[in-house]
Formats: sequence, C-alpha cells, structure tokens
Amino acid sequence: MEVVSHLAASISHEVRNPLTTARGFIQLLEQSHLSQEKRKQYIRIAIEELDRAQAIITDYLTFAKPAPESVENLNVKTEMERVIDIVRPLANMNSVEVQTSLIPCNVKGERQKLQQCLLNIIKNAIEAMPNGGTLEVYISIEKDQVLIRISDTGVGMTKEQIERLGEPYFTTKGRRGTGLGMMIVYRIIESMGGTIQIASEVNKGTQVSLYLPLTQSLHTPSVEQKRDAFVAL
Ligand SMILES: Nc1ncnc2c1ncn2[C@@H]1O[C@H](COP(=O)(O)OP(=O)(O)OP(=O)(O)O)[C@@H](O)[C@H]1O
Ligand SMILES: [Mg+2]
Repeated sequence: MEVVSHLAASISHEVRNPLTTARGFIQLLEQSHLSQEKRKQYIRIAIEELDRAQAIITDYLTFAKPAPESVENLNVKTEMERVIDIVRPLANMNSVEVQTSLIPCNVKGERQKLQQCLLNIIKNAIEAMPNGGTLEVYISIEKDQVLIRISDTGVGMTKEQIERLGEPYFTTKGRRGTGLGMMIVYRIIESMGGTIQIASEVNKGTQVSLYLPLTQSLHTPSVEQKRDAFVAL
C-alpha cells in the first residue's frame, strides 16, 4: 500500500512539472508582439514538454486501470506474453528478433505493476538495438525463486552506467528518455520481495535477471486455498 501511494504521488508530481511548463509557454504565445522566431521556439518547447509528460505516463501507467489493484497469484508466462505482444511493433521497427523460452510459474503481485516492470526492461532492451539484434526472454525456476532473464545484443553499458541504473532521471537518451523507467522497475521488484542482477558489456549487450519468490502453482492449491474453498462451500 505504501509503495502504491508513493508511486501515485510521484507520478502526479512528475507529470505536473512538464504540463506547467507547457502551459507557461502557450500563455506566452498570446503576446501580440512576438517575433516569428520566438513563436516557433515557444511552440517547440511546449511540444517537447508535452512529449515528456507522455513519456512519464508510459513509464508509470501503461497498464493502469481505474479499478484499484490487489495482490494476486500471477502466472509470469502469461504476463510476459502480454507485454511481448505490446512491444512487438517496436521490435519490428528496430529489426529486433524476439526469442522466448517461457514456462508457466506463479509469483504474488499486482498484475499492472509486474507488466509495467517487464515493459520498462524490454523497452530498454529494444531501444539498445537501434540497428537490429536479438531480444531473448527466458523464464525458469531456480529452487524457490522464479528467474526472469531479459537479454539484448545492444549497445551495453559501462560500469558507471550500471551503477547509476535505477537512479531517478539517469538517462543517456537525452530528451527522449526520462530516466524513470528503471527506477520504477527497482521499486516494483523490491515491493514484490525480489532482486535484480545486471550484467552488461559495451557493444555486446545487456542481461537483466529478476529473481522473484515462487508461489504455489494455481493447479496445486495451498492449504489456505483449500481451507478457503471449504469455507466457501
Ligand atoms: N538494456 C540496456 N542496454 C543499454 N543501456 C541500458 C539498458 N537499459 C538501461 N540502459 C541505460 O540506463 C539508462 C536509464 O534507463 P531508464 O529506463 O531508467 O531510462 P530511459 O530508458 O533513459 O528513459 P525512459 O525509460 O523514460 O524511456 C538508459 O538511458 C540507458 O543508458
Ligand atoms: Mg527506459
């Protein structure tokens, strides 16, 4: 709950800033004595700020629905397939081949948040391969944890860049990036009791490994589920 309200508070803050700036510059356009050059400049800034607001919404709210979310058993394979469907056009645009090796397994979490987190990682992977490459998505079970591994053959990162990953506003994409995508990822994985490992080499590629606590399969109900089913009868 704590995480949810903090996230909601930061979204409104992050979106409000560029909207306020855009509004300010549009207001300046009302002045009659403006040169054509200034007018163009103000319009450009206002559009850039609106694009920024949109990028922030993409990082935080792609899957958001009006209904409040609740923690449930999620099949990682199903959620991953949904996200891959969404990014496929972006992958095609960048000539990125998508390879998957997915097994069904369950974790506890909020559906929208898990999807948002997977989206932000996969979007980074595809953006790291502007001239094509391979995106590999792999799910396995390691003891009592689910391993989700997302690998790309893209530009990679230096040691310094890896260390700054997840730091708010850290981006190497200039105006095209908000530097909020990975911060969201770290927050969500932490809230799910998971951990993140990054391996990357410049000009070779990057591997993001998420470890999440495995929960009982939907097909073999837990003691509590059996008891709840009994009570429901
Ligand atoms: N798979 C990757 N390959 C190479 N660099 C990456 C990868 N993932 C993240 N990075 C680096 O980490 C930075 C921060 O990523 P993050 O997702 O937080 O922000 P962003 O991608 O720059 O902006 P946004 O997510 O809003 O589009 C990126 O700008 C990039 O330099
Ligand atoms: Mg990103």
